[in-house]
Amino acid sequence: MDLFSSIDVEPARHRIEELTRLIDHYNYEYYMNDTSLVSDFEFDALLRELTDLERQYPDLAMPNSPTKRVGGEVTKTFRHVTHRFPMLSLGNTYSIEEIVDFESRTRKLLGDTPFSYTCELKYDGVAIGLTYRHGQLVQAVTRGNGAVGDDITTNARTINTIPLRLRGHYPDDFEARGEVVFPFNDFEAFNRQREADGEEPFANPRNAASGSLKLQDSAECAKRKLQFCMYFMMLPDDAPELSAGDELASQLQSHLGRLQAASQMGFKVQPYIKECKDIDEIREYIDYWDTARWELPFAIDGIVIKVNQVALWDSLGLTAKSPRWAIAYKFKAQQVSTPLLSVSYQVGRTGVVTPVANLEPVWLGGTTVKRATLVNADFIEKMDIREGDSLLVEKGGEIIPKVVGVDLTRRQPSALPVQYVTHCPECGSRLVRAEGEAGYYCPNQDQCPPQIVGRLEHFVSRKAMDIDSLGSERLEMLYQKGLVHDIADLYDLTREQLVGLEVLDKDGLRKASIQEKGADNILSAIAASRQVPFERVLFALGIRYVGEVGAKKLARYFKNIDALMAASVEELAMVEDVGTVTAAVVYDFFQSPIHRQLVERLRAAGLQFEVENRQISSHLEGKTFVVSGVFSRFSRDEIKASIELHGGKVSGSISGKTDYVLAGEKMGPEKLKKAEKLGVPIISEADYLAMIGEE
Ligand code: IVH
Repeated sequence: MDLFSSIDVEPARHRIEELTRLIDHYNYEYYMNDTSLVSDFEFDALLRELTDLERQYPDLAMPNSPTKRVGGEVTKTFRHVTHRFPMLSLGNTYSIEEIVDFESRTRKLLGDTPFSYTCELKYDGVAIGLTYRHGQLVQAVTRGNGAVGDDITTNARTINTIPLRLRGHYPDDFEARGEVVFPFNDFEAFNRQREADGEEPFANPRNAASGSLKLQDSAECAKRKLQFCMYFMMLPDDAPELSAGDELASQLQSHLGRLQAASQMGFKVQPYIKECKDIDEIREYIDYWDTARWELPFAIDGIVIKVNQVALWDSLGLTAKSPRWAIAYKFKAQQVSTPLLSVSYQVGRTGVVTPVANLEPVWLGGTTVKRATLVNADFIEKMDIREGDSLLVEKGGEIIPKVVGVDLTRRQPSALPVQYVTHCPECGSRLVRAEGEAGYYCPNQDQCPPQIVGRLEHFVSRKAMDIDSLGSERLEMLYQKGLVHDIADLYDLTREQLVGLEVLDKDGLRKASIQEKGADNILSAIAASRQVPFERVLFALGIRYVGEVGAKKLARYFKNIDALMAASVEELAMVEDVGTVTAAVVYDFFQSPIHRQLVERLRAAGLQFEVENRQISSHLEGKTFVVSGVFSRFSRDEIKASIELHGGKVSGSISGKTDYVLAGEKMGPEKLKKAEKLGVPIISEADYLAMIGEE
């Protein structure tokens, strides 16, 4: 480094270090101690300053900078990594007798040696191992098959309860193991948002956590509020810290001490671990959590019992797959039998009818259960549910109770099968069941109230027209008052109609009326939606099978709504990713005079019905680019958009037609090989900037 640049760089280095330390500290206090030391505004300003400095001086950025928490790095494929220490599983049992056996066997094997147990929660999430060297997080790997897992480091860095840099004293080289969980509240909010965006909700927090860790876009992972619950510290037997004779060394001799030490290093260790001296204390712990588990903010599926003294683990040894010094007790799903009072039927936004069991209220796993889904007509037939039956309802590690069968001991001999409704409970139309389908649906798309409100909800959702001041309750009320019947009516709403409109809240309890300011917000959000690009308008129309991506592809292919409406099924099916079924559905949609009229009204209201030609130069006219790697000035999406703005085309794979491969850092080796083989010029980000005249 020459003299001038070192003079330049020193203050930046100093400030980067200072900001990193400060932000780490604020994060720690916020996530570990629930303490806000600065306002969100100040915090964001510091983070922005650090992000800018790191962009300006990429060489000075710390590998575990807190800016990594917001994500942004994209992982194409998750690298397989062999675990340095295999991730063993635990012997597990549903039987308390086997826990009694485990305890007496352990006691016998250890003879006169004094020892104790620890009892702790068995988190129901995704197991991962975090490697720390010199106090820095260097790698995060999923359990996989125990021997080999996936490298998910970029996503793990976005989890706020995973420390990126450790505090105080720590072993120089160790692995922190634990479970990534998705707390119930955050999971529910996340699932609701998914539904509002027209995406499939996740079945349970564990699946959502597992899916999140495998997201390619770490910024997306950062938005989900995952937590890491540490349950184990793995240290090499010859770790020098074990024999250092200091306080850390003494903590490291027991499992409980290791977790306490981990907590001092900055890990969030759940406080529910307890040292137990005998089977009575173990039983007491299990019994307590069998009921108290329902009050926890996250899911657990059992209790783990470990011998506390690390030095005894070797003498107890391993079985084929699991250590002999630990065992898991799994909670049984709680089950009750309760009378079925009646069946009601819910109609969703696509017209699908879902039967719901109304049950004699019953206490189950910490809540009163009154209703449970009966899934569809097939489910009722297969379970052979009859009038007046009592149903077996179960609650596993999750929140939603499930009907798992009929309590045949309580069946009346004369009980008749439940008669499924033949007509829509909302609009009276005759229900239809397509050949081979498990359930019925209401075909009256255009007149059936829940379908209308559902379509309105989809239309205003974030990824569609993003009219966020119109929530479900407000839409429901606008519909009930006869002010809005279809999506085009939204554009005729006036201030007078909105002000004073009474809306029930989510629980249907409290009424609030829309104030002047609220009305103005709604109207300006509706007005702003006139600028939403064509591809999102197309998605917002809510055509079956046309999701966000499909809408984008259709919009780009046909360029405007008239060409799209005039297309034949064959032409529609030519679009990438549009299959024949979707093509037929899109075709039918636009054949309907109602839908054509709707499009005309929306067009008259000023919505975007053609792809905007936003090209700003023709520097790249006729040139096809393939983009690979990470860039400093642009995100990958930004650089692709920039190519198009300058008249170029972006393609996903290198072929004879590719003019340039635009390579950032960490370009994929496969692409490099292919480009070299085909003799396609590889250009850098700087070359690209020169091409578009922005050197
Ligand atoms: S100890 C050698 N403690 O349960 C020690 N495991 O088969 C091995 N789990 O998938 C693990 N909570 O991820 C331990 N408090 C806890 C746990 C826990 C959940 C998971 C673990 C593994 C399975 C054990």
